[in-house]
Amino acid sequence: MNKIPENQILVIFGASGDLTRRKLLPSLFELFLRKLLPKRFLIVGVARTKQNTEEYRTKLREAIIDSRKSSVVDGPAMDGFLKHIYYISMDTTTPGQYPWLARQIDQMRVASDIDDNILYYLATPPTMYALIPRFIQDAGMNRSSRGWRRIIVEKPYGRDEESARELDLVLRSVFPEKEIYRIDHFLGKETVQNILVLRFSNGIWEPLWNHHYIDRVEITAAETLGMEGRGGYYETAGALRDMVQNHLMQLMAFIAMEPPSGFDTEAIRDEIVKVFRSLRPLTPGSGAVEAVRAQYKSGTLNGKRVGAYREEPGVASDSSVETYVALKFFIDNWRWSGVPFYFYTGKRLCSKRSEIVIYFKSTPQHFFEGECEGTSCNRLTITLQPDESIRLSFGLKQPGEGFVVRQVSMDFFYNSLLRVRLPDAYERLLLDAMIGDSLLYARSDSLEASWHFLAPLLHYWEKHPQEDLVFYEPGSGGPAEVSSISDTPFFFSDSICSVEKIKEKDEN
Ligand code: BG6
Repeated sequence: MNKIPENQILVIFGASGDLTRRKLLPSLFELFLRKLLPKRFLIVGVARTKQNTEEYRTKLREAIIDSRKSSVVDGPAMDGFLKHIYYISMDTTTPGQYPWLARQIDQMRVASDIDDNILYYLATPPTMYALIPRFIQDAGMNRSSRGWRRIIVEKPYGRDEESARELDLVLRSVFPEKEIYRIDHFLGKETVQNILVLRFSNGIWEPLWNHHYIDRVEITAAETLGMEGRGGYYETAGALRDMVQNHLMQLMAFIAMEPPSGFDTEAIRDEIVKVFRSLRPLTPGSGAVEAVRAQYKSGTLNGKRVGAYREEPGVASDSSVETYVALKFFIDNWRWSGVPFYFYTGKRLCSKRSEIVIYFKSTPQHFFEGECEGTSCNRLTITLQPDESIRLSFGLKQPGEGFVVRQVSMDFFYNSLLRVRLPDAYERLLLDAMIGDSLLYARSDSLEASWHFLAPLLHYWEKHPQEDLVFYEPGSGGPAEVSSISDTPFFFSDSICSVEKIKEKDEN
């Protein structure tokens, strides 16, 4: 049974930005169509751009149609949805404007007979994350005796351990921890949530889910896109901050965590933090190769010429920022002792693919021709995108003479569940925040622990900007140097990229 949120106002700061247009409003429209929004609700967009509500609604209509997230994109439903949206033009860097904003919101609330419940969404540049909450507090907009106040904060949540802690101090002095929603959109993906169900609703995995049976775990998030106009932001981030610190760390925690004491928010968050705290510290510069960082050159991707990272707008011509990271690490606890975990993530690779591959150990002896050499062919592959699926691979006898092993798999594809639509990550996360369920949002201690784990590498790279930076071809599986930490990454190893190359040839 779907829970419907209480009636409320969603105030979006950064309302004229890309995130609001591409993700937030299309997702809210989808929730509206599925009758998951309360009867009485308003969305109030706040941004500097001078425009009135009518102009804003017209732009949103186009944005929602463009996003093509729904089969019913225009018509009476869209008109009905847009009626709930208002726009306020305001300079959000000026604290003196906030009391006026509070009055505007309150007048709208009273006129629409909505209870005094307000959810703020910070979809602004990160430099505003610590400012807006302070201004909200100064104007008394952070509490009410008649209802609740919540805040959703987008990533990046700080740029290192210290700045994340500082941001936390500010937010927690304005809102209670339980009302702070730190978003990681990967956790809104259906396939990511399914990791928990796969692990904890099936008895067959748990006996195998440990160092006795698992050889290694690979978590990959590969993208074909380059900077798409975000070069300026990316120069301050790089792949480690942009993808690893948040998305990949959270995926790893879902794979590695212990069964929680119950299926509730804090019990799950406790287990996530325990995983992060058990990570073996990274030791860059010590001689042990744990990480490979790389940047894309110019080249060809999907038959098109693409520029190098250093040629992207907003990027320095001698930038040493990494667009690719491979990382090998260990979790020093009883379950994972000695099992290497790997992260691979990069831009401008041959395919858009996010995947977790769990390799089981091989049999102690090999009898048959065709068995996998080295490690076993028993793999559990959880594909988050593009073809959301779960696949168990194993060897079987090839029909005919002799005993030759052939690799086969048992697959489950989400698209085989006809009539089931996979909601966009933002739909689930927005709805959860409106309801007051923070299970799929990150708690501050886990973010801090995640930054803490990556800190040695971040510091080392900052101190030695060009050291070990290598380059890779667009449309490849990443840099060849990745073999220094692992000789068999699944994504790099051909299969995926060669399939993409065949597709590309067929299309040309
Ligand atoms: C964002 C990163 O958090 O995630 C982007 O800032 C990245 O650089 C994106 O492209 C990937 O998300 P998804 O859902 O498209 O895999």
